[in-house]
Amino acid sequence: MYDIRKKLSGTIEEDLKEKFDVSTSIHFDIALEEGRGDLTTSAAMQLARQLGKKPADVAKAITLSIKKMEGVENVEIAGNGYVNVFLDNIFLGQGMDSVLEECFPKPTRDESPVIVDYFGPNVAKPLGIHHILSTSIGQAIINLYRHTGYPVIGWSYPGDYGTQFGKLAVAFAKWGRKKPVSEYSLDELLELYVRFHADAETDLSLEDEARLAFKKLEAGDSQLEAFRLDVVSVTAKALKSLCDRLHVHIDKETGESFYDDKMVPILEEGVRKGILKEGEGGALIVSFPDEWKLPPYLLRKGDGTTLYATRDLAMIRYRLDSCKPRAIYYVVDIAQSLHLKQLFATCKLLGWDLPELEHTVFGHMRFADAAMSTRKGTALKLEAVIDRAVEKARKVIDEHRETIKTDDAEKLAEMMGVGALVYGILSQNRKMDIVFDWDKMLSFEGNSAPYLQYSYARARSVLRKAGSDEIKNSKTGDLTPKDRYLLKNILLFPETLADARDSRMPHRLTNYLYGLCQAFNSFYNTEPILQAEKDLRQFRLNLTALTARVIKTGAEILTLRVPERM
Ligand code: ARG
Repeated sequence: MYDIRKKLSGTIEEDLKEKFDVSTSIHFDIALEEGRGDLTTSAAMQLARQLGKKPADVAKAITLSIKKMEGVENVEIAGNGYVNVFLDNIFLGQGMDSVLEECFPKPTRDESPVIVDYFGPNVAKPLGIHHILSTSIGQAIINLYRHTGYPVIGWSYPGDYGTQFGKLAVAFAKWGRKKPVSEYSLDELLELYVRFHADAETDLSLEDEARLAFKKLEAGDSQLEAFRLDVVSVTAKALKSLCDRLHVHIDKETGESFYDDKMVPILEEGVRKGILKEGEGGALIVSFPDEWKLPPYLLRKGDGTTLYATRDLAMIRYRLDSCKPRAIYYVVDIAQSLHLKQLFATCKLLGWDLPELEHTVFGHMRFADAAMSTRKGTALKLEAVIDRAVEKARKVIDEHRETIKTDDAEKLAEMMGVGALVYGILSQNRKMDIVFDWDKMLSFEGNSAPYLQYSYARARSVLRKAGSDEIKNSKTGDLTPKDRYLLKNILLFPETLADARDSRMPHRLTNYLYGLCQAFNSFYNTEPILQAEKDLRQFRLNLTALTARVIKTGAEILTLRVPERM
């Protein structure tokens, strides 16, 4: 397929080689700002530094090299050496083919997979609102890889092991209802857990009992193991429906318990290699070289029990052996930053042959509503928040009954409510604190799911009236600035996907879609589509169809859904 950017870059690179005897690669960005042309590059400035020349001279050389090329209407130098290229409509329109291609998932490449570690809730507790962060950010990252043809495994690592089972077992024995644990709801399990902690504040023997119970569990006590399995399945059942509502699909799940028998060989390896040193009462500790500036890492306690860290380490080994991944990305709370640094550093000390390991971090959740302090906020159950969002969406639909067209208000409310919540998260830079803001999320105006959904429905409605959503060959003809602006926004889709994927920053895709919707709505508001003359009509229908496809594809990658009517 013809790619004008490649063609321009190639020509410039050859000419520069001849002129300045330099090998370089020129990259053009699509320019959205007015007056910057259609394509722009800042290459002259970097190259000038490298060559010890004036940026203006290098920019001039670039200009000369492409001035006469087919498709180029004008070239300008701006600022300190930006080169802005103005393209002919036909050539600008040529990129539409590659955008259409990008709307279909690429076949999976035959290469080693990327593992995305996400979700991983702790068993026996309902999900809190903050759990949506790892879940939705993780799934969006997985979808970005999968859609663009990379093998990827979305892998959950739930906490289905550890001292909480000791506590729960003690609480169940003391205060359990007269029914088997398998018939408990998640809330009832939480009650036990909460009661344990409340009573343990005054009754110090409780913690000892719990520790003892966990030790027995670790030693293979069959009754306790059966209890643990029941609790795990109660949790799994409850979480499944929540994941379905969020369009989250876990490819693989291994709980902490899975690594129970995989830790000893690694501890032995660590001792053998002199990396694990024995501490008080048989504890095993990793100390890192001073310049790594990391505190010691405990991998076995004095009482012989293992830790979260030990199991995480065993999981890396297991993943390396079973999948040979190209990378492992941990979509995990910033609170676990130190743990993950120590974990990765331990692998390095062990001399393992490692793939890329990254803590794909996200910040804390903050609440726009002052009454919802972080403390209160994190106690909010995710399911309750989703229900409330859907309820709010239902109200909005009711209030706009005149204008919102839908044949299934309930389905639309679910789509809008869940979407608003997820969009609210995925439109923010994950590396910062993430603000939870009801009003912003369900607004129809701003950067929100309903706005995206509404824009999609609007495009689909035009296409329905046209009787076809097929993209047909058409002459480009005379385009208005709004046609061109929309077109350029559409053309940015493939590189936005690649960028959001490679940086693992889904908000770049979300915000791109917002810009696309704005461009589309502004085009829709002033440019006649169905009433335009023949060639232009088809071209504008093509723009509309492509906008709709890009929105739908992008939305689904972000785990959102869009309605045909609204
Ligand atoms: N279960 C952990 C928690 O809720 C999250 C798991 C993160 N993944 C990992 N490999 N440590 O805090």
